Amino acid sequence: LSLSSLYLHLNLDFSLPVCLLCRNNIIYSNVCCVYVCVHRFDYQELLHNSSFCLVPRGRRLGSFRFLEALQAACIPVLLSNGWELPFSEVIDWSKAAIIGDERLLLQVPSITRSVGSDRILALRQQTQFLWDAYFSSVTKIVLTTLEIIHDRIQTHMSRSRLMWNSLPGGLYALPEFSSDLTLFPFYYSTLGKSPSQEFTAVIQAVTPLQSQQQPIFKLILAVAKSKFCAQILVLWNCEKPPPPRNKWPSITTPFSIIEGKRKTMSGRFFPHQAIITDAVLSLDEDSVLSTNEVDFAFIVWQSFPDRIVGYPARSHYWDSGKGRWGYTSKWTNEYSMVLTGAAFYHRYYHHLYTYYLPTSLLSMVDQLANCEDILMNFLISAVTKLPPIKVTQKKQYKETMMQQGSKASRWADPDHFAQRQSCMNSFTSWFGFMPLLHSQLRLDPVLFKDQVSILRKKYRDIERL
Ligand SMILES: *[C@@H]1O[C@H](CO)[C@@H](O)[C@H](O)[C@H]1NC(C)=O
Repeated sequence: LSLSSLYLHLNLDFSLPVCLLCRNNIIYSNVCCVYVCVHRFDYQELLHNSSFCLVPRGRRLGSFRFLEALQAACIPVLLSNGWELPFSEVIDWSKAAIIGDERLLLQVPSITRSVGSDRILALRQQTQFLWDAYFSSVTKIVLTTLEIIHDRIQTHMSRSRLMWNSLPGGLYALPEFSSDLTLFPFYYSTLGKSPSQEFTAVIQAVTPLQSQQQPIFKLILAVAKSKFCAQILVLWNCEKPPPPRNKWPSITTPFSIIEGKRKTMSGRFFPHQAIITDAVLSLDEDSVLSTNEVDFAFIVWQSFPDRIVGYPARSHYWDSGKGRWGYTSKWTNEYSMVLTGAAFYHRYYHHLYTYYLPTSLLSMVDQLANCEDILMNFLISAVTKLPPIKVTQKKQYKETMMQQGSKASRWADPDHFAQRQSCMNSFTSWFGFMPLLHSQLRLDPVLFKDQVSILRKKYRDIERL
């Protein structure tokens, strides 16, 4: 084969980065290279197996090998003097690639050998983050381009370099939210910030108040007793106007009612100005929680401020028979969602839910009056690449919900479940992948269910329930 027909045949760029990978650090001629690397080895596997991938200039300064290496978590070793790397205006490539000097080609082996294993791991992790955040699809590339232009125009609220170069990346860190990095859930450890000591409880109310026996009364009293509770907000989503303050439980914790201008399911995650604390405790009006449970879940959230932490959990699975995702409320050892009827998360997710997600998904949720909690879990897992966190088992939760069987209880509706299945599939197709991740972790208080006196336990009520 002549050189050119060989390239044509294999559809390869003129300069192959794989040359140096062919062991022994021998730089073969291009022909050898094609033979040795492409025919004797599986190219993709070779990329994945390698720590470093040479990216010399191709026909132009840039080469497709660069993105290929990035995708495969192979640290690109760039040999293309004068090449402006993609999005270099915001991306710090020195954290993910080695930028060599093409005139000093023969020094490359010693340079790569001098990189320690910790740095190799850090560089490889950064390749994966950057690939996934900005290059993994045409949509991401276009969005990144637009957001960089947006940052250039709106300089007073452009993203900082930290936002672009650390998880979850610039596309998920909306500068409209704040220019203060400490107000986002992602940078606590980088900035050495400790999570706040207070939360805002946001209760979604959909049934009119008739008696003091209604679960929402007990719930408000239990939550108000938590020493971490800064305020309680009731999102009043009933047709009837809310009852006057004196009809509500008398508590000293600041209490306010927000009348839903948006009487919709997505409205419960609207970033209301009134929510001033970083932590939000999201509650359904019929959730049954004790003060101890609230306190314990909040303490856990403080350790995981970027995740959703809560009680009732659900799971997803791949239904191979139907070729689609399934939703299950079966009690197994695994979960991938935490219901927002009793969960803590950072208030930034209200902002992201309302302004990042497309109107198509939000209106789907509103029309069905269902799935808003699934969508929130999708969003948070897509951002963090981590599963939610479940705290202490609470067997009563399900039963109490069922017993009530009130008209308002949407769980009683048989369509409800089927809708949730189809929501999962619509959400997955918008995200382009299934962001939910399974977890088997459950966090319980110290001495939970241990055979010791209840007096020695800090969260006594959790077991008494
Ligand atoms: C990749 O690594 C695996 C495991 O070490 C090895 O079996 C395989 O042959 C390697 N593949 C290539 C192309 O080097």
